[in-house]
Amino acid sequence: MAEHFANFQNSIYLAGLGDVRPDLPLTYPELEAAARGKLRPEAYGYIAGAAGSEDTLRENLEAFRRHRLLPRMLKGVAERDHSIELFGRMVPAPALLAPIGVQTLAHQEGELASARAAAALGLGYVLSTASSHSIEQVAEASGGGPRWYQLYWPRDRELATSFVARAENAGFEAIVVTLDTHHLAWRPRDLTLAFLPFIRGEGVAVYWSDPVFRGGLESAPEDDPAAAALHWVSLFSDPGLRWEDLAWLRAQTRLPILLKGILHPDDARHAVEARMDGVIVSNHGGRQVDGAVASLDALPRVIQAVPPGFPVLFDSGIRTGADIVKALALGARAVLIGRPWMWGLALAGQAGVEHVLRCLLAEFDLTMGLIGVTGPAELGPDLLSR
Ligand code: FNR
Repeated sequence: MAEHFANFQNSIYLAGLGDVRPDLPLTYPELEAAARGKLRPEAYGYIAGAAGSEDTLRENLEAFRRHRLLPRMLKGVAERDHSIELFGRMVPAPALLAPIGVQTLAHQEGELASARAAAALGLGYVLSTASSHSIEQVAEASGGGPRWYQLYWPRDRELATSFVARAENAGFEAIVVTLDTHHLAWRPRDLTLAFLPFIRGEGVAVYWSDPVFRGGLESAPEDDPAAAALHWVSLFSDPGLRWEDLAWLRAQTRLPILLKGILHPDDARHAVEARMDGVIVSNHGGRQVDGAVASLDALPRVIQAVPPGFPVLFDSGIRTGADIVKALALGARAVLIGRPWMWGLALAGQAGVEHVLRCLLAEFDLTMGLIGVTGPAELGPDLLSR
């Protein structure tokens, strides 16, 4: 797709000639505030909140402020192309939608709406195991769009195999194993409201629609949701996993496997040794280890630890197009966008997600041109000043 992202800017100004202004906010704080006004407190708290004192959530954002761009002039940037190849597939921009669970908290169409938005823009979509819609339903919504499946590796190997096989059969093109959430962290906003969606039957569609999960129940989840919730609690995660276990997963699928939640360079080395296909540097948006290093600050050492060209993706703290540029300049192959489009989803479903993504990509493209580069391959640390 050769969409010129900056056209979105022109279309806004041109509409203004007819006194039409954007009906959704353009900045992150205004998006969040508007969504907050629409959401029930439990849903808002679940999306906005993080672990503990929320120190790492703040630190993720501050790390972006500490890194400054150093623009170059007269570089001939009239033609720009931000498309990249990711595991054999061309995408128009180095940005994917991060795996986010329980999207029906934001909007009744949840993952179906965000998957349609991603497909409309041709961007990669990462579906969470904690989805409110089944793997197959989201595949249908995503159509021909590039999609990956994020695995929360359950305690039962047969169930893990089933999730991965379903994803493969439904046209998902990579598996993202999230390693940082074998326990849900201490999250005061959710605790204050005594709110955990999964035990209320929200965000469990991947489980409830699974033959192996259902086979472990005496009655169907629809008939006995309480028993299904207990079964979910017993299976959700496996804190006993070790690096050696990845060999088993490797043998279950021909798809590329990426590990999400890598912060330490030694863990990045382990990922390479375990024949993984990529890592995602992430602290889960500050939702897991309060006091953890900012994801952006962890990125350079991870890049140094892996062989040249090994795919290192990034998330946690991207709020603007300029943030995308900074993460790429530090060596990320692509970034995952999280909370920003969740606020768009809350405000206007699929159209809201598209709006937020178009804003981010327009700003990304303009920033690229204005610092003197025509595509991601030209970005490097020389364009940053710390
Ligand atoms: C997440 N994230 C997440 N990650 C994952 O691997 N599986 C999941 O189900 C979820 N669920 C989830 C729910 C909500 C409400 C949020 C905000 C985040 C983490 C997500 O993929 C990503 O790492 C963060 O969103 C990045 O941080 P920022 O940029 O959103 O602050």
